[in-house]
Amino acid sequence: MHSFSTPLSRRLGLKYPMVAAPMFIISNERMLLACAEAGILGAMPSLNGRTPEEFEAKLRWLRERTDRPFAINMTIGLTDPERLQADVELCERYEVPVWITSYGDPTEIVRRAHARKATVFHDVINLRHAKKAERAGVDAIIGVAAGAGGHAGRISPFALIPYLKDNLSVPVIAAGSISTGKQVLASLALGAELVYMGTRFIVAEECGSTDDYKEMVIQAGPEDIVYTDQVSGVHANFLKKSLPDSRPDGTAAQPKRWKDIWSAGHGVAEIRKRQTIEQIVDDLVREYYDTLAALPR
Ligand SMILES: Cc1cc2nc3c(=O)[nH]c(=O)nc-3n(C[C@H](O)[C@H](O)[C@H](O)COP(=O)(O)O)c2cc1C
Repeated sequence: MHSFSTPLSRRLGLKYPMVAAPMFIISNERMLLACAEAGILGAMPSLNGRTPEEFEAKLRWLRERTDRPFAINMTIGLTDPERLQADVELCERYEVPVWITSYGDPTEIVRRAHARKATVFHDVINLRHAKKAERAGVDAIIGVAAGAGGHAGRISPFALIPYLKDNLSVPVIAAGSISTGKQVLASLALGAELVYMGTRFIVAEECGSTDDYKEMVIQAGPEDIVYTDQVSGVHANFLKKSLPDSRPDGTAAQPKRWKDIWSAGHGVAEIRKRQTIEQIVDDLVREYYDTLAALPR
């Protein structure tokens, strides 16, 4: 299918301006490879390797299979400083093309990334943090809107994306509640240069989510998503039925957050089946062009 692009997606060498966003525990190197082959950017948290050695093995595996871009997420304030150092060094050594930072001051990471000609995205839920990250030199800001999977913001994507765009000079990446090509098109119309989707990829065959998790995403509507700070201390969206109170048989008496309590966003609304990443990208692109052709003029 024809590619479509923005200045940022062209700079990164993507066929489509879309990102499979990093997801703690469940994103993996197979997803990053499948995304690279499908022409979008795949991303994974460095911590999905339980040790630096495990993370390095994932980078080596990927580097042996593709020259196309991929992204690694480092959660600055939530990562042990020694581990963070090790992960940054590995991103340098394996020349990771895109570094995604969150939860903290990215200044030092930006300096190290730029010395390797890598691109840095930083994720925020409001303009104040976006401005700080812009001053730190990041190349693009991810605006995480209400309804996002993981640690979501509170501002509607309809307001957040144009607001960030109007007040920043770096490109804006839209995140939160985007699961279809129609929503991809809307995000670009609002001024985004890339579209960042997590929940949409939980049902990918390549994703490390369990069968039960995938099935719960398929069955859920947006009413089944709970926004709470009770699980991780920071407000995030979770599937209601995976919360301890809702487990019928106490299967997760000592539930581990993210592993047993499953995160997903309002974007579950439009997700109906399991698919490979190639099929998901095909659908997103087809829906994008169908919507574009049907817009009132
Ligand atoms: C299960 C899950 C785990 C996530 N883990 C992380 C993470 O480790 N680091 C991060 O920056 N964002 C994380 N996120 C947020 C995503 O990267 C992305 O911002 C979000 O999924 C976008 O909203 P959407 O789910 O509505 O597409 C996670 C999201 C989900 C659903």
